[in-house]
Amino acid sequence: MERLQKVMAASGLVSRRKAEELIKNGKVKVNGVIISKLGTKVNGNDTIEVEGTILKKDNVKEYYLLNKPRKVISSASDDKNRPTVVDYIDTDARLYPVGRLDYDTTGLIILTNDGELANILAHPKNKIPKTYIAKIEGLLNKDDIDRLKSGIMIEGRKVFVQDFKIRDKDFAKKTSLVEVTIIEGRNHIVKKMFASLHHPVIRLSRIKIAFLSSDNLKSGQYRKLSIKEVKKLYSLK
Ligand code: URA
Repeated sequence: MERLQKVMAASGLVSRRKAEELIKNGKVKVNGVIISKLGTKVNGNDTIEVEGTILKKDNVKEYYLLNKPRKVISSASDDKNRPTVVDYIDTDARLYPVGRLDYDTTGLIILTNDGELANILAHPKNKIPKTYIAKIEGLLNKDDIDRLKSGIMIEGRKVFVQDFKIRDKDFAKKTSLVEVTIIEGRNHIVKKMFASLHHPVIRLSRIKIAFLSSDNLKSGQYRKLSIKEVKKLYSLK
């Protein structure tokens, strides 16, 4: 189940704000009934009608893994008309990304129209590990590494670091390349973690989500997930 305004925005027909306005003004029908309450939940079988136009139904679930380029927004639509991750996928389905990567972060992101799987992957209780490669300013000392491994407090909650490796150090430029696996979905969390150690992130890329890795996907390329992979993702619940 997804919120009506989110489904409308994900369809690309309207922005989220416009969707809310249309709902409040009684211009949206679900299964023939006017819905004017924001936050009403709908599923893929509901018929949504916006000012007389019926939104396409998503009966067939689709699952994609995209290698997101820099300067792409991780949402289904953007008020500023910037390219979104959804624009990269050639389909008519109402896809939305699972979780977020920052505008300037590259790497793996799952897109689907399956709200149930999206919820499983996004829910903190399922502890889905995600691996990032970060280029950071400076060279980490033992104290930094100990702090990382024991979990850094960000905004009152500890970030649980499952794995951590220094991949490379550039002594001349005073930068490091580090690989970090975290079980955490908060926005900007990797940047916040390194910022709190006074080693700001210069570049960030996500190279793994659970068992899914970048494989041969070049920047901007995507592939469909296999049924086996989808089942395996469901089993992470
Ligand atoms: N952490 C961040 O700081 N940015 C991302 O895009 C993902 C995780």
